[in-house]
Amino acid sequence: MNQRPRVVVTRMIPEPGLSLLRDVCDLWVNPEDRPLTQDELFSRIATAEGVLGQLTDRIDAGFFEAAPKLRGYANYAVGFDNIDVPEATRRGLPVSNTPDVLTTATAEMAWALLFAVARRVVETDALLRSGVCPGWGPLKFLGQEVTGKTLGIFGPGRIGTAMARMSRGFAMPVVFCGGRKPNQALERELGATRLDFDAFLRTADFISIHAPLNDQTRHAFDADALARMKPTAILINTGRGPVIDEAALVGALREGRIAGAGLDVYEFEPRLAEGLAALPNVVLTPHIGSATSTAREGMAVLAAKNLLAMLAGQTPPTCLNP
Ligand code: DGY
Repeated sequence: MNQRPRVVVTRMIPEPGLSLLRDVCDLWVNPEDRPLTQDELFSRIATAEGVLGQLTDRIDAGFFEAAPKLRGYANYAVGFDNIDVPEATRRGLPVSNTPDVLTTATAEMAWALLFAVARRVVETDALLRSGVCPGWGPLKFLGQEVTGKTLGIFGPGRIGTAMARMSRGFAMPVVFCGGRKPNQALERELGATRLDFDAFLRTADFISIHAPLNDQTRHAFDADALARMKPTAILINTGRGPVIDEAALVGALREGRIAGAGLDVYEFEPRLAEGLAALPNVVLTPHIGSATSTAREGMAVLAAKNLLAMLAGQTPPTCLNP
């Protein structure tokens, strides 16, 4: 009799994670480079005991109903706004995410976007590639210096704290906003100042979003918040798109109410809000914050270890259930 648990991996992940699972499970891995449709997902998980899934998979009551044999779900992401954790907990099902292993990669991505916007890297690169080579000019392509400016961290969790730590090389005062508990690392180690949202918006030269998406943070950066930012401010988002009202952001960028934005995530991902791609003062990347080989392998191994623990009836290393 086959005792190996049946596991579904909803999208191809790096081999080190797959081989951990393959050693003990009967594995089905989506062979296509796209998310499964809901019908495909539901038919695949009908007999699955474990699922390793992506932030594009909705893990809610419907998912759990479609997987009557399920013993655990491992998310291949640190963000878990795709999972109905209270529903999983009510059903006694463990669910997990992949914190820490992608912290450095994502914080570095936020810096990459900040510098790209502040120094107009993408805009000028596009100009040269279009055949226009304007050369050096005393008043051409002036951007902003980053050193010494005030960095604002919205959501002082692991990634926000890592970004703040990296700012030490640029001698930046750090202010932050949000978070459920005091952040000793930010306050004591970095001398960062916690501000209320209004003071935060008015003080920061650059704001980087790292807060999770929930009812409190959805559209936190709406037209009103954007209007309270400095006209020279740059907004960076490597967290979750719906924290920004993207239509309001397009308006603010178009009218010069803020200076620029660097976005890795989108409100209607993978679709961009109308007008966004036409703006010169925005740099856009396709949700690649954790896309380094090191981070993605770390995520694959951690997600696999989480799932194996669940299948063995143990608490997974990075469990989301309270
Ligand atoms: C996450 O992990 O939540 C990122 O958005 C994707 O790696």
